[in-house]
Amino acid sequence: MLQHLQALIDRGEKIAMLTCYDASFAKLMELAGVDVLLVGDSLGMVLQGAENTLQVTLEQMIYHVKCVAAGAPNTLILADMPVNTYEFGKELALENAQMLMDAGAHMVKFEGGGKLAETARHLVQHGIPVCAHLGFTPQSVEKLGGYKIQGKTPESAQQILQDAQAMQEAGASLVLLEMVPAALAGKVTAIVPTIGIGAGVDCSGQVLVLQDLLGIYNGPASKAPQDYKAPRFAKNFLQESNSVQQAVVNYVAAVKDKTFPAPEHSY
Ligand code: KIV
Repeated sequence: MLQHLQALIDRGEKIAMLTCYDASFAKLMELAGVDVLLVGDSLGMVLQGAENTLQVTLEQMIYHVKCVAAGAPNTLILADMPVNTYEFGKELALENAQMLMDAGAHMVKFEGGGKLAETARHLVQHGIPVCAHLGFTPQSVEKLGGYKIQGKTPESAQQILQDAQAMQEAGASLVLLEMVPAALAGKVTAIVPTIGIGAGVDCSGQVLVLQDLLGIYNGPASKAPQDYKAPRFAKNFLQESNSVQQAVVNYVAAVKDKTFPAPEHSY
């Protein structure tokens, strides 16, 4: 699985990633040619109806990783480490990451930069590939004061570049960049392979939340649908397709031929 990822990176082919939480969609996505399935803690919002990702547990992530692994035995599975499972020391992070790997993940993702470089290094040294999530980090939504673009000032852009460098040096395979200016994402991609969401077309690959691709997410369970505004980077691929399978195939093609994200999906 990791060889496939490396081959894409080596030949400069864009990586198509989608979030996935169950076996049916995993099977469909594998058939559609999705390169990486992200079992994201976005499941807190899109499956559980919560306002954010902060109530998602490791047990829940393990359950969904198992479901996805059952449906897509031949596709790389990236699993999110939920909040409070990796920030309190590298040994605990390793123990928790290993549980996600045992459930069927091939790589784990956690949010944060330089301060967690030692944790990333420790996981990699123990054979666990790592993706670092930088830019807008959803588990810090309260600290960041809401869903805001990151890296807009020279200082914050520099911080993201330093964090990416630290993670690359620690052995991270990928950096996921969320909601950062496209020009900054291009600079990060020169340091380490990147997956973008609201980060422009110059990333090494793209990710979308499945429910955004299908145009079926309309906000947390507690809020009226009319009070929800989809983020700029979301695109409904089902609108222009005659089936869910075709929508996923079209997403993969659009990522590969660099027509998604278009400037209107970027910052
Ligand atoms: O949890 C998730 O789905 C994510 C998104 C940014 C894709 O991390």
